[in-house]
Amino acid sequence: MKFPFLTLTRGCEKFYRFQQRGVLLADQRLWSSALKHSSQLCKDKSFYITTPIFYVNASPHLGHLYSAVIGDCLHRWKLMQGFDSRFATGTDEHGLKIQQAAEAAGKDPLTFCTEVSERFRNLFSSCNISFTDYIRTTEQRHRRAVEHFWSVLWNKGLIYKGNYEGWYSTQDESFLMPSQVGEALDPSGKEVKVSLESGHKVEWMKEENYMFRLSVFRSRLLDWLVKNPGAVQPERFQQAVVQWLQEDLPDLSVSRQRSRLQWGVPVPGDPEQTIYVWLDALVNYLTVVGYPEIHEQWWSASHHVIGKDILKFHAIYWPAFLLGVGLPLPKVIHVHSHWTVEGRKMSKSLGNVVDPVEHSQMFTNDGMRYFLLRQGVPDSDCDYTHDKVIKLLNTELADSLGGLLNRCTAPALNPAQVYPAFCSQAFPRDQRGRAVAEDYQMVAAVRSLPTVVEKHYETIQVYKALEAISACVRQTNKFIQRHAPWKLDRRDSKDRRWLDAIIHVSLECLRIYGTLLQPVVPEISNRLLTRLGVQPHERSWKNLDFLQRYHGTDCPFEGRLLGLDSRLLFSRLEGQNGDKQKPKKSKKPACLK
Ligand code: MSP
Repeated sequence: MKFPFLTLTRGCEKFYRFQQRGVLLADQRLWSSALKHSSQLCKDKSFYITTPIFYVNASPHLGHLYSAVIGDCLHRWKLMQGFDSRFATGTDEHGLKIQQAAEAAGKDPLTFCTEVSERFRNLFSSCNISFTDYIRTTEQRHRRAVEHFWSVLWNKGLIYKGNYEGWYSTQDESFLMPSQVGEALDPSGKEVKVSLESGHKVEWMKEENYMFRLSVFRSRLLDWLVKNPGAVQPERFQQAVVQWLQEDLPDLSVSRQRSRLQWGVPVPGDPEQTIYVWLDALVNYLTVVGYPEIHEQWWSASHHVIGKDILKFHAIYWPAFLLGVGLPLPKVIHVHSHWTVEGRKMSKSLGNVVDPVEHSQMFTNDGMRYFLLRQGVPDSDCDYTHDKVIKLLNTELADSLGGLLNRCTAPALNPAQVYPAFCSQAFPRDQRGRAVAEDYQMVAAVRSLPTVVEKHYETIQVYKALEAISACVRQTNKFIQRHAPWKLDRRDSKDRRWLDAIIHVSLECLRIYGTLLQPVVPEISNRLLTRLGVQPHERSWKNLDFLQRYHGTDCPFEGRLLGLDSRLLFSRLEGQNGDKQKPKKSKKPACLK
């Protein structure tokens, strides 16, 4: 059955295929109502996540990887929940800063940009950042989008020619008010003017250029934030934006003279001026979803992940531009804080920039991802040290999670290598079996874990989700420890049923942990779930029913053979001084009667 008059979006195509497979639509009336339902379904299920696009003036560092890992985690989470999620990242290649970096490297700008952009792309690919689009602002599709965007603003009278006089930081590509500028000494001891926020040098600039009527949007921006309390998260960043909006909001210079800045998109109709790099860069979010032609479906579901240093650009300039062209505002702007290294800001001059490629090799991709998301608190800055990484990964991934899997799948305890049967007499709901009060508490905690984790993933408080998972893993280890299944006698039928129930419950816990951890540590989760015999289509949000047998329904996993890959889930890491950190004493099954 064909409907050539319909242009089907990606999400709708899926629905259409489903319709073709399952239901034969008898008449046009039925089809129209199905279509209505499907467009609702497609719209509701679309999700669009972006990372900032990264400047290519230098190689990627840990902070960049952090922004990307947060975006990736959210994207994987949404896919798991059945959303049709798109996830974009890429590189920001225009502007004075890049022009100067290319000059310093003695390369033509595009060659220079291509080289560094590839470094970002390779890093993201090697760290399992599952982007669906990688945008470069030097691409033709982007130039078209920027030109169109500019023309709409121009035609609406929101851009005018004026004179800008004030401070500019090339490093931040940002205009500053006098109140945002202070004094500092440069490395040679000379007094210089700097941005109070970033510490970067600023220069006085006076040129004729185009101005955007930012000031007229102040009350609409405030209104947006008042009506949408979760528009900028966490809350403290939304408050910061409201505060800024209550101060002065002058019009914004949105172009530079071509004589100073050649590396960028020329202003349509005025080749003597180049479009301001932030206006150019922000439009990338629209380019990816097909602006100006086909952006609607995805644009209305957009979520930006950004670092706190670029909040003003995303929560004031960008919404004002969008209001100007008449497009919806982003659903949520998720803000994260920064990483310091051994207590100090990461900087080339201090020589403490953490190379994410080197560190991902040292601690594994999943190790790095786990550390960043487990220790990274969006509200406040976090400190990165080798020892902390090693300690955390050894404790939580190697000993706790890996140890739990080892225990439940060790041939000594599980000679048949199966997901054993649950025995409701040994673990009855009326609490009259061999299970004790703490066991029931654990079952209740694991049962509610998906809801807890969902709440924290949704607000990108991933560390809280991981804290909750980690607490449950500890409870399950204690459960095994408490009942010492290695002391039970398999030849005794009662003991055997109880032993199997212990392993069944523990494997069920592991299945829930593995499923919930997929957005954070995709490789480890895959290994864990494969070892448990959980098939790829059994790993979604819908498969998080825990301990079905205890709750009176069938468990599809009961009796299944375990997967064959019995390698360690995560190998313990060595400390910096070479000494292998001592594993916590775990009571291994000495022998089984
Ligand atoms: N090109 C602009 C973004 C344009 S988006 C339309 C930019 N690029 S950046 O390369 O400087 O920064 C990209 C991201 O890296 C930002 O989210 C920034 O906050 C993040 N980080 C840079 N240093 C960081 C840390 N030390 N720690 C955590 N994230 C940090 O800004």
